[in-house]
Amino acid sequence: MTGFPETGRVSAPAAGTVLIDNVRPYGEGDPTTVLIKDGVIAAIGGDHEADRVIDAGGHVLLPGLVDMHVHLREPGREDTETIETGSRAAAKGGFTAVFTMANTSPVTDQPIIAESVWLKSQALGLCDVHPVGSISKGLEGKTLTEFGMMARSDARVRMFSDDGKCVSDPQLMRRALEYAKGLNVLLAQHAEEPRLTDGAVAHEGETAAKLGLRGWPRVAEESIVARDALLARDYGNRVHICHASTTGTVELLKWAKAQGIPLTAEVTPHHLLLTDDKLRTYDGVFRVNPPLREEHDTLALRDALLDGTIDCVATDHAPHGSEDKCVEFENAKPGMLGLETSLAVIARIFVASGLADWRFIARVMSERPAEITQLPDHGRPIAVGEPANLTIVDPEAAWVSDNDSLESKASNNPFNGEEFGAQVTHTILRGRVTYQRAESGAAAEMEVEK
Ligand code: DOR
Ligand code: ZN
Repeated sequence: MTGFPETGRVSAPAAGTVLIDNVRPYGEGDPTTVLIKDGVIAAIGGDHEADRVIDAGGHVLLPGLVDMHVHLREPGREDTETIETGSRAAAKGGFTAVFTMANTSPVTDQPIIAESVWLKSQALGLCDVHPVGSISKGLEGKTLTEFGMMARSDARVRMFSDDGKCVSDPQLMRRALEYAKGLNVLLAQHAEEPRLTDGAVAHEGETAAKLGLRGWPRVAEESIVARDALLARDYGNRVHICHASTTGTVELLKWAKAQGIPLTAEVTPHHLLLTDDKLRTYDGVFRVNPPLREEHDTLALRDALLDGTIDCVATDHAPHGSEDKCVEFENAKPGMLGLETSLAVIARIFVASGLADWRFIARVMSERPAEITQLPDHGRPIAVGEPANLTIVDPEAAWVSDNDSLESKASNNPFNGEEFGAQVTHTILRGRVTYQRAESGAAAEMEVEK
């Protein structure tokens, strides 16, 4: 499959030189230096003079993180998040590129909306915010949007999804696959058979039964994953499964990949770490789609990410205002924040535990999502001549996630008050420092160079 040709015009790289001193690429080997010149990695190792020197304290250097699934709520719900606040949250979380879903108001189903998102993000220069186009007009599941016009627009839309809703009509999904194939764009499916989740607010299991909550069965996800695997097989194009959440989905992905079916999948930090046990307090912050499941699901998802059955991590960062969250569980809107905690959650599960190393984090949080979305300039190796999209991580920071210091406008953070180890200290986009942790490490601050 050929690569998507290009990225739309991007914000200018930083002119001049930045020297990252005392840093360990991928957390490996002795600390070294990385020299950035005009937004490109110019040298690794050796002594260099530079306009600016960052002392990285011997910490870990990763390729800038890429999140292929966020909701930045602009246009339409700027009271909960904007491209600016979402970009700040992304930069603080170590991200240099994110994909923002189409369930905005109006829906991102036309080039002009996609272009306005992309151009706004480039004017800000904090993070590359790629708009996702919707598969169906108005997310109504009836008529396909003009993929070609959005793909060719200044936004260079390369991913289409009705996320928030499932493309449940198999004929529409088939047509979408045939259309997407010719354009080499990606379809991302929110796998939820709506007839099986009518009125559902929690995972169908013991906890929901005890709490008196209507259940969302695993089969609602798995039946769509199976169907789309078969559609991808027969119509020969890629399908990406959003937020895989069940043991059965992992089995289906394994089967599909073994058949050579071009199916990829992401998993969220919350589905890897949390279970429906969190629902016992009826706190609306823990309502999410797909719902938090059971322990065996989290363990199967972890193994799947480790062995490549699941390709990458994506946050599904979904800001909601308190009027939609601090209400009865059944009335809370589904979704939780993720951009500012994801690296810490993933590092805790996989690195602190000894299950994996920082190379793995680079793969699942940067390289694979950039490959799947065909970004030419993110998720690249840390090597001379590559774009300087980079993240520096203090692996043992010991910090507490605190809603009072979020960059996000919303505060539906499932990890408020939770202590973590790893923390992003710097994020660099095309040589420009888009985030720098405050010296004390306690009250992190945004620093943007213009
Ligand atoms: O929990 C969710 N929230 N899942 C989705 O698929 C959509 C998202 C949102 O837009 O709030
Ligand atoms: Zn979704």
